[in-house]
Amino acid sequence: MKSGLVLLLGLALVASCAAAEDAPCSYIVQGGDSLYSIAQRYGLGTDAVQKANPQLDPKTLIIRAGDVIALPCAGNATSGSSPLDLLSRRSDLSILFKAALAAGDEFIKTLNDTKLTATIFAPNDTYFEGLLEELNKTAAELLQDKPLLKDILAYHVVPGEALSLDDLDNKANLTTLLDGEFLIVNKPKDVVRLVTTSEQKIRVDNKELEAGNAIVHTVRGVLVPATAPIGDAVAPQDECERTVKEGDTLSNIAKEAGTTVDDLLKLNNLTDANFLKLGAQLVLFDSCI
Ligand SMILES: *[C@@H]1O[C@H](CO)[C@@H](O)[C@H](O)[C@H]1NC(C)=O
Ligand SMILES: *[C@@H]1O[C@H](CO)[C@@H](O)[C@H](O)[C@H]1NC(C)=O
Ligand SMILES: *[C@@H]1O[C@H](CO)[C@@H](O)[C@H](O)[C@H]1NC(C)=O
Ligand SMILES: *[C@@H]1O[C@H](CO)[C@@H](O)[C@H](O)[C@H]1NC(C)=O
Ligand SMILES: *[C@@H]1O[C@H](CO)[C@@H](O)[C@H](O)[C@H]1NC(C)=O
Ligand SMILES: *[C@@H]1O[C@H](CO)[C@@H](O)[C@H](O)[C@H]1NC(C)=O
Repeated sequence: MKSGLVLLLGLALVASCAAAEDAPCSYIVQGGDSLYSIAQRYGLGTDAVQKANPQLDPKTLIIRAGDVIALPCAGNATSGSSPLDLLSRRSDLSILFKAALAAGDEFIKTLNDTKLTATIFAPNDTYFEGLLEELNKTAAELLQDKPLLKDILAYHVVPGEALSLDDLDNKANLTTLLDGEFLIVNKPKDVVRLVTTSEQKIRVDNKELEAGNAIVHTVRGVLVPATAPIGDAVAPQDECERTVKEGDTLSNIAKEAGTTVDDLLKLNNLTDANFLKLGAQLVLFDSCI
């Protein structure tokens, strides 16, 4: 009897630790929730939850059903029961999570389906922030633009097949959820890139995440279809590399490629913008490395 009780207590302890580790990074507030009840549910301190949400009024801590709040989380999940579940458990994919919710019920339903068979490309928060900078928009402004979000997100989903990195064959033509818009796989050697209809070349990371029946690949840029109203804002990439020719300057190369001198310096480990070696191969974009 006594050992049974100890065992029960032991189980309760394990359960509460597991709950704390299991907190998602992005949580959708439900009716009747308070910051305190959410913190309790995941074995977190209310202070820690408040700190993760500086947008909340510190006096009232008011939250509304449907709001997305951040929770302290491990943030490195490699699998989830559905794509939406996986996104909620990744601290680096929080903008994509919010964008999926803002894109509307149909899209939420698609990504929340544990049986969805699909290949999904996921740009992390750094790349969304880069796009926002190019668009001169805030995240809040982007999240209000539902038609744009729907188009962009649909372009990141290839329905029908869960393709691993090995399955992404050179020159494969992937049909996305966005009508009439496709992605071409570019895989000359081991590196896999996606060529968009707006002529970006976006690197696919060497890491696969599981989401129910779907496979999620992180990618080094937001995929923008040619038909999106922001198609003009993204710089098309003809090449990933460029040989320095007679008469080149870093600023003319940057201008030609649609990037900046600073980015070229960083990407190529150069310290002096005025010293370019004739014949040197410059990498032009982050997504090319
Ligand atoms: C995530 O990170 C935690 C520690 O921060 C570690 O214990 C856990 O194993 C990691 N999980 C994965 C799937 O890498
Ligand atoms: C996004 O991925 C890039 C490249 O893998 C990495 O340098 C960056 O830190 C990541 N961003 C976040 C928010 O994790
Ligand atoms: C996703 O599905 C789960 C389980 O079916 C449900 O509890 C949850 O409310 C759904 N999430 C959204 C955002 O619809
Ligand atoms: C960016 O937008 C803000 C406010 O909408 C505006 O004041 C600013 O001039 C814009 N900057 C550029 C570079 O377009
Ligand atoms: C990819 O497939 C679509 C639809 O079948 C087609 O319209 C498009 O021309 C193809 N693109 C390339 C580069 O083959
Ligand atoms: C720049 O330096 C980093 C770290 O030393 C290295 O990993 C990277 O490959 C270098 N990039 C180029 C383009 O040489």
